[in-house]
Amino acid sequence: MGKPKFIEDREQLEKLAPVAKAPIKHHVFVCNGKSCSAVGSAEVKAAFGEELQKRNLRYGKESKGRNPNGEIVLTDCGSVGFCSIGTAVLVYPEGVWYAQVRAGDVPEIIEEHLVNGKVVERLALINLNNKD
Ligand code: FES
Repeated sequence: MGKPKFIEDREQLEKLAPVAKAPIKHHVFVCNGKSCSAVGSAEVKAAFGEELQKRNLRYGKESKGRNPNGEIVLTDCGSVGFCSIGTAVLVYPEGVWYAQVRAGDVPEIIEEHLVNGKVVERLALINLNNKD
């Protein structure tokens, strides 16, 4: 493996990943670990992708059909370590963990939580906002 290149030029770096100027409000992680995959995490991720792109909310490169001014970043993540709750979906900056998410739950999470700011209590396992 070669030595990773370190980009000194801040302007170049920001051009490569223009996140600093983007109006990002949420980052949604969908676990794609083995156990979550076994209960449909790929379908959950696809449902988020389709719905967010339909609403033009998904942040990313235009060349990938995403919106450079989108408010929501959607990514996979590896196992978050509680593999019997899958599919696990984590929403930041709130730090809400959703458990047993199925593709059919995705429109509700997007509409209620990501758009209207209300946690979907029936699926929320950990909601740091409710802790003292
Ligand atoms: S595989 Fe998703 S929490 Fe472990």
